[in-house]
Amino acid sequence: MFYNFPEDSVFLVTGGAGFIGSNLCEVLLELGYKVRCLDDLSNGLQSNVDIFTQNPNYQFIHGDIRDYETCMIACKDVDYVLHQAAWGSVPRSIELPLLYESINVGGTLNMLEASRKNGVKRFVYASSSSVYGDEPNLPKIEGREGNLLSPYALTKKSNEGWAKQYTLHYGLATYGLRYFNVFGKRQNPNSTYAAVIPKFINCMMNGEDVTIYGDGTQSRDFTFIDNVVHANLLACLASEKHAGLSFNVACGEQITLLQLVDELRNLLDFSGGIKFFPKRRGDILHSNADFSLAKEKLGFQPVFYFMDGIQKTVEWYAKQRCCYHSK
Ligand SMILES: NC(=O)c1ccc[n+]([C@@H]2O[C@H](COP(=O)([O-])OP(=O)(O)OC[C@H]3O[C@@H](n4cnc5c(N)ncnc54)[C@H](O)[C@@H]3O)[C@@H](O)[C@H]2O)c1
Repeated sequence: MFYNFPEDSVFLVTGGAGFIGSNLCEVLLELGYKVRCLDDLSNGLQSNVDIFTQNPNYQFIHGDIRDYETCMIACKDVDYVLHQAAWGSVPRSIELPLLYESINVGGTLNMLEASRKNGVKRFVYASSSSVYGDEPNLPKIEGREGNLLSPYALTKKSNEGWAKQYTLHYGLATYGLRYFNVFGKRQNPNSTYAAVIPKFINCMMNGEDVTIYGDGTQSRDFTFIDNVVHANLLACLASEKHAGLSFNVACGEQITLLQLVDELRNLLDFSGGIKFFPKRRGDILHSNADFSLAKEKLGFQPVFYFMDGIQKTVEWYAKQRCCYHSK
């Protein structure tokens, strides 16, 4: 993939020790750019930092986006901010609303302000499909959102509101990317709040039954990580005319959890069972995206669809399976 950035471009990836952030760092370093990563390691892994520390173009700042001075230092001389730092998980956000507000909203506001003060060219940030809430119509399309179903979703919607204000009043070029259930290498399977794909892969590799909340007919537009990295880089190159907008980043596919289990079962030769538990509060039933806005304004097109992505992901976990530490 070719991206036309000036050679000496400097990128700041917040949350760069996490799943999506570390994949962004990796691709940017491979392309030869300077990458600064800001992460407090609250959910990210030291091992996701260690893999890059030998690279002279990589700099790690161990810090918290809730601290404005840290954000100012991190944004100094930066051209592009890829803001990923946040706490994920819908159920955990219902348990810890104050923490979610301070990290996901307060931290993002600090990053917006520090980016504006430092003259950052583009501020690209992680939003989420959760902003569609209880909107029943599929596919999900920008501008047709329902009632929010969790504090997590509220923080992401609030990020979009603040980013729009920074574009409107201060001319900061912001682009929100509404990720739909991202999966791929380096997604941590071990936290209680782990995402479903790494969790299932881990269980199956250990020969344990998998757990589904609900009857398994709920569906997701599972999006392979390479598509998300691609969308971030395209957004950095997008026209300023489109600043202030948010875009669906997905593949336009609809995979049920039962289909996912079947697919993983085949790939991993798994003969165990499924344990069903009641549906969790705040979970969306079906999710499937229309990504035509991202296609039109950013030139986005998925680079890998679900079937290729899941195969690559399983291969990666099979190679790495002893490298994860429980958190
Ligand atoms: N993974 C998905 O499917 C998905 C879907 C929609 C949106 N998102 C969003 O994408 C972003 C990245 O998600 P991810 O899956 O890589 O999560 P992750 O937990 O793997 O990464 C988030 C990183 O942010 C860091 N972080 C958290 N609080 C911080 C703070 N106060 N200061 C500095 N760093 C902090 C964590 O240590 C972690 O390394 C998040 O904003 C998330 O809400 C993810």
